[in-house]
Amino acid sequence: MPNRRSIAATALLIVSMAAGAQTPPSLKNIYRGDFLVGSAINADQITGKDSRGDAVIESQFNTISPENALKWENIHPRPGVYDFDIPDQYVAFGEKHHMQIVGHVLVWHSQTPAWVFQDDKGNLVDRETLLKRLHDHIQTVVGRYKGRIHSWDVVNEAVNEDGTMRQSLWMKIIGEDYIAKAFQWAHEADPQAQLIYNDYSLENEAKRNGVLALIAKLKAQGVPVTTVGLQGHSSLTWPSIEAEDTTITAFATLGVKVAITELDIDVLPSATSQQTADVSLNFAQDPKLNPYFVGLPISVQQELAKRYADLFAVYLKHRDVVTRVTFWGVTDGDSWRNDWPIKGRTSYPLLFDRNGQPKPAFDAVIRVATEGKPAN
Ligand code: G3I
Repeated sequence: MPNRRSIAATALLIVSMAAGAQTPPSLKNIYRGDFLVGSAINADQITGKDSRGDAVIESQFNTISPENALKWENIHPRPGVYDFDIPDQYVAFGEKHHMQIVGHVLVWHSQTPAWVFQDDKGNLVDRETLLKRLHDHIQTVVGRYKGRIHSWDVVNEAVNEDGTMRQSLWMKIIGEDYIAKAFQWAHEADPQAQLIYNDYSLENEAKRNGVLALIAKLKAQGVPVTTVGLQGHSSLTWPSIEAEDTTITAFATLGVKVAITELDIDVLPSATSQQTADVSLNFAQDPKLNPYFVGLPISVQQELAKRYADLFAVYLKHRDVVTRVTFWGVTDGDSWRNDWPIKGRTSYPLLFDRNGQPKPAFDAVIRVATEGKPAN
């Protein structure tokens, strides 16, 4: 029996089809009232050099994330030197198009310049020095965009696959309370901002349990973490739909919101048996692992479409706690998946092809919104 939500989505679909066969329906409109739908955007899209990508972003999405522009190495490359050129344009882009603007990322073990952890002689700094650098960075960056950036990925990927704390330089020099401090300082710099702990592979039980324990501890200490980000770097076979469902439920039970922050689905053969999005992995090129460089077979397009539909059905089931679903890139040509963990492959992980045209997976995601929804 169709419910009111699916009738509204179907009506929207019919109206958008009547508006012209050339205009695809829009994800942001079809999921309005459920969650926001967004994309990570790159420097060419921020600065208007990629007009084809911008057309997709403006018509399809109501939230944006900066794929790289706000990472420490880009925004704060040297001591006392901040480069706000592209970040300012990023925020202006989101405001111009009335989008919810996400900040990514304040604290990460990766893409943080070596100087942050070192003194003039190249030795590791002490706890107090690193805390001061962290505080100044957060105050400066979050403070600059106070009231304009809606949500911040405050801490990224602090937990190992087995659920233990990652022994990053943040952890080694400061200790585990670097996480609580980062959230507190982000909250002080912008009390209205939503503050996110963001990680990948939380659908795997051991890692999920580690992050659940961390979030529970932070909440018990009164640390202002509002949301857990499930990055969602997925494959055709991982995670299972049951694991996705279990994961969202588990975090919701802790009283935090859930955002799907970096969704993509890899269709290429895996170069590793690990289920990971660890940016440091790098394997040698191998033609066997790049089978679709001339095009994606229809059967795999359909498999991808089904995977996307199944995942979106879970997100919809949890629309009371899922705040947004953000894809990690606009078109297949933009995706980091083309270069990770092997350089120069041809991957197809997103909803729009290299010409910015919607794929069968796009149609499948639209269809999920127009079919009967499970009641909350
Ligand atoms: O900007 C330089 C450019 O000047 C240079 O010519 C070029 C040469 O390769 O490199 C460019 O920088 C690259 C940058 O992407 C922009 O394309 C970096 O080498 C490359 O390491 C960087 O990769 C990004 C990666 O994070 C590391 O920052 C990916 O685009 C980005 O998609 C990926 O995103 C991460 C999230 O932040 C956290 N979660 C996992 C996710 C996927 O790894």
